[in-house]
Amino acid sequence: MIKKIAVLTSGGDAPGMNAAIRAVTRAALQMGLEVYGIHDGYLGMYEDNIEKLHPRSVSEKMGHGGTFLGTARLKQFTDIEVRKVALANLKKYGIDALVAIGGDGTYRGALALSEMGLPVVCIPCTIDNDIGGTEFTIGFDTALNTVIDAVDKLRDTSNSHRRCSIIEVMGRNCGDIAVWSSIATGAEVCICKETGYNLNEVLKTIRKAAKVKRHAIIILAENMVPIDELAKQVSENTPFDARATVLGHVQRGGAPSARDRVLASEMGVKAVHALLNGSTHHCMCVRKGEVVPIPIEDALAVDDSIQTIEKYEVFKLVQ
Ligand code: F6P
Repeated sequence: MIKKIAVLTSGGDAPGMNAAIRAVTRAALQMGLEVYGIHDGYLGMYEDNIEKLHPRSVSEKMGHGGTFLGTARLKQFTDIEVRKVALANLKKYGIDALVAIGGDGTYRGALALSEMGLPVVCIPCTIDNDIGGTEFTIGFDTALNTVIDAVDKLRDTSNSHRRCSIIEVMGRNCGDIAVWSSIATGAEVCICKETGYNLNEVLKTIRKAAKVKRHAIIILAENMVPIDELAKQVSENTPFDARATVLGHVQRGGAPSARDRVLASEMGVKAVHALLNGSTHHCMCVRKGEVVPIPIEDALAVDDSIQTIEKYEVFKLVQ
């Protein structure tokens, strides 16, 4: 019978992490459990940086980006000896289950702990929206709105100067931020891994836009092409002078959107329910609006690029 749970955030932070921690903590306390916060992800578990949480521990945090527990990436967690030390630390507090909040790296660490006997449930929290099995990850909606706000501002100045603005967005190897923001901003071009890159096609599209508009927008997913090289090509081969903007880590911060706060709250509550109902190696997924637990291995096995390509088809049809 689970009586004490721990909660941690791991990997790249995302807006909504605090809302998820809050929901896990409040729900577990209401269900009569003790809750422990692990600082700095798996590193804190290894270093015994663990703090008992109370209802007021998570007050006034939901509206803030980032994670008040801190996060880290601990590559050494793949070493079972490191995991054994971490588990021994949990044992000291009598902790008998874990909620791990983060991205795919977090999931892999949690799966390894479950194979060593610790019941775990993961919550998908990354701006990339690249966790299989769930239509949305917490943080994606907020990052999307950050990008849209930036692109709308860049459109103003591009229009004044008859320019093409190229905006590089995050997403690691997933094009969801690029594709969704391209639709939402009416960009002329979207370049991401799932749909490939053809310079001549890009230049043709920009030249066509220049016939009828005073500006053009290209949204470029990171890790595709050097943005300054693309800007040079556009400047030299189209009527528009190009300017490059790398949005970078601004996409990782900011107050979480209403959607992310509610998604985080629902996933947090249901993660505690899942643990109490016997889930031991699961992750929370939202599918057609419903939040359900599925086995972590099943989530990691899903190729979610299909969802990205389907959205790209929408982008092409609204050109
Ligand atoms: O996974 C979230 C993310 O922001 C990716 O989109 C990006 O590529 C990466 O993290 C950046 O990692 P770091 O914060 O370590 O620079």
